Amino acid sequence: MKTIAPSTLVIFGAAGNLARLKLIPALFRLEVAGRLPEQTMILCASIEARSREQWLAEVAGMLKAKYPQGYDAAMFERFSGRIHYHANPPGDDGSYLRLKELLDTDPLFPRNVAFYMAVPPSMFPGIIDRLGDAGLLKQTHGTRRVVIEKPFGYDLLSAQALQKGLYRHLDESQIFRIDHYLGKGTVQNVMVFRFANLLLEPLWNRHYIDHVQITHAEKFGTGGRAGYYDGAGALRDMIQSHLLQLLTLVAMEPPVSMAAEHLRDEKVKVLKSIRPIAQHAVHAHAFRAQYTSGVIDGERVPGYLEEPGVAPDSTTETYAALKLFIDNWRWADVPFYLRTGKRMAENLSVISIRFRNPPQDLLRQTRHAHTRPNWIMLGIQPDDCLKMEIQVKEPGLELKTRTLSLDATYRKQGDEDVDAYEGLLLDVLEGDHSLFLRYDEVEWAWRVVDPVLKVWSMEREFINTYAAGSWGPRGTYRLFDSDDQFWRHSLDVSGGDLQAY
Ligand code: BG6
Repeated sequence: MKTIAPSTLVIFGAAGNLARLKLIPALFRLEVAGRLPEQTMILCASIEARSREQWLAEVAGMLKAKYPQGYDAAMFERFSGRIHYHANPPGDDGSYLRLKELLDTDPLFPRNVAFYMAVPPSMFPGIIDRLGDAGLLKQTHGTRRVVIEKPFGYDLLSAQALQKGLYRHLDESQIFRIDHYLGKGTVQNVMVFRFANLLLEPLWNRHYIDHVQITHAEKFGTGGRAGYYDGAGALRDMIQSHLLQLLTLVAMEPPVSMAAEHLRDEKVKVLKSIRPIAQHAVHAHAFRAQYTSGVIDGERVPGYLEEPGVAPDSTTETYAALKLFIDNWRWADVPFYLRTGKRMAENLSVISIRFRNPPQDLLRQTRHAHTRPNWIMLGIQPDDCLKMEIQVKEPGLELKTRTLSLDATYRKQGDEDVDAYEGLLLDVLEGDHSLFLRYDEVEWAWRVVDPVLKVWSMEREFINTYAAGSWGPRGTYRLFDSDDQFWRHSLDVSGGDLQAY
């Protein structure tokens, strides 16, 4: 277990959704697991005036809602000793000076401080400027770190402007750009699977792999976040960040070591090698659509345009798919298909890797069935698992084949169930950047999607649709390079067949 120096974690936006649903519960779980260093303090900052008692009652409510069975009053007692509240009303610059006074003089608060921006992205620059102007980011008596949630900018230009603002007060080692996908166990398992096993390495290239699919599908809609989502859309919300990160892990070369800079160097190399999508080729490489009303889990759900907070004529995409090529020796001409959608048929995040067909179909005469290639599937959620599909002979007199799924589900009963934020918060306190994005990664990821965003922003008249509860729009099939490629919707063997909508 790593030893971590005691720190103060200041959460801006502590009363917002991210803090309520993810950060505070993750910190509580770390408390229960005995992983928070003894003197760690959590200073929750939000715009309303509240007493510490009022805030503690709210925190207890959040935890009871999150863990109806697992709420432990004795543990909460211990946890609440760490929780403090600081009112930070908009326009009251004095609140930053009061914060400085508190952090500089109150012996309760360790001098290593991490500031977590759990606020809307438009507020990042203002808060960081005020922290910087108040002298709160100077590392004179301890470390000063800032955690920034995605989206980091709105496009390449705005990301560059945001970065410029941050560099006025911070250097790169102080900045932790979070992508919570990198905190997920199976996402880290992509690296273990690749670099702790020699078996697959000889096959992990253009000679054996036909294409790679990365899917993130959700049954949820905008979940009360229409204000943000309608201005962002699926390409910015999921693909520019999470799915491109998954792509880098699948495609990168083995790093020199697992140290943060080595890892990030390799990921950046992948992003730099992605073939730029020319403006005239956007329609051949990208597809977007928006959900209409439909049925999910037996219930009728409204279409995107009927969701509260969505502009009635919005053409924001709730589904986006991309075809990308990585122009390097390992991956030349292997398509990487990325797709994501809200209000889809299932909650499913998976990396599916399809292998090429054997050079000759020697069993063609006897098999009475079409060839099925091998697949490897890395399930991220809801089940983290690893499956490999191979062909075997069916028992009986004839030489017929059957697809068998080797299921290496590695989760055992009683294995720890850890939320991505738990590990990432510890990494921040420890100062480990391995699972956080370096600025050049973010910038290169914007370069990949920027041409698509530009074309889509000019085409505001029309958007394709799909019914909520389906697997997305039909037109998306035009992205595929050959007739035998199709979206894989399932981790089961039957998912190897072409599926109807
Ligand atoms: C967030 C997106 O970053 O990731 C959301 O903003 C999305 O729109 C979410 O629902 C998905 O995360 P997870 O961990 O639920 O797969």
